[in-house]
Amino acid sequence: MAIQKNTSVSRRRFVGVVLAAAGALFLLLTGRIVRRGRVLRRRRTVVLPASLPEGISFHDGVIAVRHGERLTLLAARCTHLGCTLEAAGDGTIRCPCHGSRFDERGRVLQGPATQPLERLSWHRDRQGRPVVNL
Ligand code: FES
Repeated sequence: MAIQKNTSVSRRRFVGVVLAAAGALFLLLTGRIVRRGRVLRRRRTVVLPASLPEGISFHDGVIAVRHGERLTLLAARCTHLGCTLEAAGDGTIRCPCHGSRFDERGRVLQGPATQPLERLSWHRDRQGRPVVNL
């Protein structure tokens, strides 16, 4: 009879240890996820060259579209699931992940994305370089 009681206590202790370890692992992993989320949301500044090429060019997460003196800056992040966009080679912008396409104004030409690209507000620094905060 005493042996059965000890076995029962051992099982309870074992289950308790397993649950405590699972809880500690859960807290550890969610803590990392939260920390990564903070890092991803941290703002950063991108400074573009003062003289940008005519048409579409890509600069560290920013798409610059210049036509003469008119300059538009777009986020180089797909509005479907956030992949980094690239030049399609035909004057459009393409997502390498699922094939969405955007025109140089950021409008959707082809899904699965349904939302246009984010237009970024920017200013010029003293050297005349476009500066954007992402
Ligand atoms: S993330 Fe760009 S099309 Fe899916």
